[in-house]
Amino acid sequence: MKDLQQLTLDVCEIARQAGAYIRKERARFSLSKVEKKHAHDYVSYVDKGSEQQIVAALRELLPEAGFITEEGLAGHKDESFLWVVDPLDGTTNFIHGFAPYAVSIALCQGQQILIGIIYEVCADECYYAWLGGGAWMNGQRLHVGTSTISDALICLQLPYNSEAYKPVICRLVSHFYGNVGSIRAIGSAAMALCYVAAGKLDAYAERYIGQWDFMAGSLIVMEAGGRVTNYAGDSAFMQGDSIVATNGIVHQDLLSGIQQT
Ligand code: IPD
Ligand code: CA
Ligand code: CA
Repeated sequence: MKDLQQLTLDVCEIARQAGAYIRKERARFSLSKVEKKHAHDYVSYVDKGSEQQIVAALRELLPEAGFITEEGLAGHKDESFLWVVDPLDGTTNFIHGFAPYAVSIALCQGQQILIGIIYEVCADECYYAWLGGGAWMNGQRLHVGTSTISDALICLQLPYNSEAYKPVICRLVSHFYGNVGSIRAIGSAAMALCYVAAGKLDAYAERYIGQWDFMAGSLIVMEAGGRVTNYAGDSAFMQGDSIVATNGIVHQDLLSGIQQT
């Protein structure tokens, strides 16, 4: 296998090409092209077209790796390397022409995330990290923010599983609203993680999400100096369905808020 830095840069190019396809299709997109996976969980030919392109390019780059992808166009057996791909994160944003939305690609080996790449289509921003190599956006080094909880900008998202999460999100908003700088929901898990890494957000928490939503972004946050756990505060978050990603300073505040809900 190539060295991780070179592999990361190669995958940035693949993510940018998928992003160019998404941008082109957005220009002629209409709501009649939208399908529903479940209530309020949307998909279109653009998610699938992006995934097809990404899978073909990654197969050529590293033939020995398997896949976990959101749209399920490729799978895995017992390969030791795994690509984890969300071909379009922020589909609801995309169908409304509302930024941000992104392509997210990670390469994992066992319990380790080796590289993470997220390309945000609207702003033409490529976020990337490789294990031990720092976190970057279009060539600039990223560092998490320094706010304490009273001034922190925190992102609390609204996953599709509203039935299970509604009581939790209501309690989280009630716990933090008025006690932090402010609260946002931005509609893309991958981008929430990138913005924590870039110091634009100080924290992000969400449950009922998939590995393709958080794998690449988690490495980017950790390589930018942040902390990532699941809702139980465990750093073995990779197999779960919850993520807390912060600048480190406010991590315990987020966990305490979550654990009280
Ligand atoms: C969703 C987005 C959204 C988050 C959901 C995800 P999709 O991914 O990241 O922000 O709240 O939990 O499933 O469906 O747009 O790829
Ligand atoms: Ca997603
Ligand atoms: Ca998706």
